[in-house]
Amino acid sequence: MRAAILRDYGNEPEVAEIDRPHLPNDSVMIEVHAAAINPIDWVITAGHMQQMLPYELPWTVGYDVSGVVVEVGSDASGIAVGNEVFARADGMQAGTMAEYAALKATDLALKPSNITHVEAAGVPLAGLTAWQALFDKGQLTEGQRVLIHAGSGGVGTLAIQFAKNAGAWVATTASVANRGLVERLGADQFVDYKTERFEDAVEPCDLVFDMMGGETLRRSFDVVKPGGTIVSIKGEAPEGLAAERNIAFHPFFMQPNGEQLSEIAALISGGVVNPVLDSTYPLDDVAEAYRYAQSGGPNGKVAIAIR
Ligand SMILES: NC(=O)c1ccc[n+]([C@@H]2O[C@H](COP(=O)([O-])OP(=O)(O)OC[C@H]3O[C@@H](n4cnc5c(N)ncnc54)[C@H](OP(=O)(O)O)[C@@H]3O)[C@@H](O)[C@H]2O)c1
Repeated sequence: MRAAILRDYGNEPEVAEIDRPHLPNDSVMIEVHAAAINPIDWVITAGHMQQMLPYELPWTVGYDVSGVVVEVGSDASGIAVGNEVFARADGMQAGTMAEYAALKATDLALKPSNITHVEAAGVPLAGLTAWQALFDKGQLTEGQRVLIHAGSGGVGTLAIQFAKNAGAWVATTASVANRGLVERLGADQFVDYKTERFEDAVEPCDLVFDMMGGETLRRSFDVVKPGGTIVSIKGEAPEGLAAERNIAFHPFFMQPNGEQLSEIAALISGGVVNPVLDSTYPLDDVAEAYRYAQSGGPNGKVAIAIR
């Protein structure tokens, strides 16, 4: 099969002919129609995750997938040949930028039928991250105020829609060129992070969802009510600051979860949530797609069409 592989850390992924992956008993084989790029993909190819995720090279890249089930492992249940599915692959399985990928059955959800495979492929990693940050860690409820940083990104575009659907009031930071986008998605207040200080512009919030770390995370402590919460998918808070301000601080790394992805799929099927796709590249142009995804240019997701 054709696949995008990483031969050495520091290189770009390249397309090669390799064997189909082995199918573990708890997994299903997916005929991949589309994959999508996430920041973790280029962090891995650069070699920054070698300790946490010790892949053997050459390694097939990609975590997000949308496609059709063509084979079901002997211990995999709840899924059948012919089902259209999407998923964020488990860390050590991965390898979705290929004609076939083997994924754990528990990581899969049925793809919403009202969106295409390239649209669906951009949802799992970003969507599960937003879901787990807002609801598992952030405990966001109706009527609360949340500041979502980077509202124009892959995670942010879904986070805004999830928070609005939960009945929260939403402020978000983005570039001014993306003001229209984040307001269409439902943001109640837009803050241009290049010209305004969000901690001055936004009234105190119950929750901040941080994807930037560093200065943005530190300044986020100035916009949370005492007793409120900051969830960060990017960094650690300065030591002692959370306790000093009486703010709960949760750093975390998202996990694949087929059940939560099914809840997200239901919101998409119902027309409540609309994935934002920036662009689609063919598998042959995977290196160019990686370069574009890192350029700061995209709004929403960059997908790889496999079929
Ligand atoms: N821990 C985890 O489990 C996990 C999971 C997913 C993602 N992440 C991390 O979360 C981050 C976002 O991921 P993503 O997929 O949404 O990335 P993305 O699609 O590349 O989006 C990045 C966004 O950041 C915005 N941005 C840049 N500088 C900013 C600033 N100073 N303040 C506010 N927004 C700013 C950009 O907005 P404009 O284009 O409008 O300027 C852009 O829309 C990445 O660093 C990624 O590694 C972590």
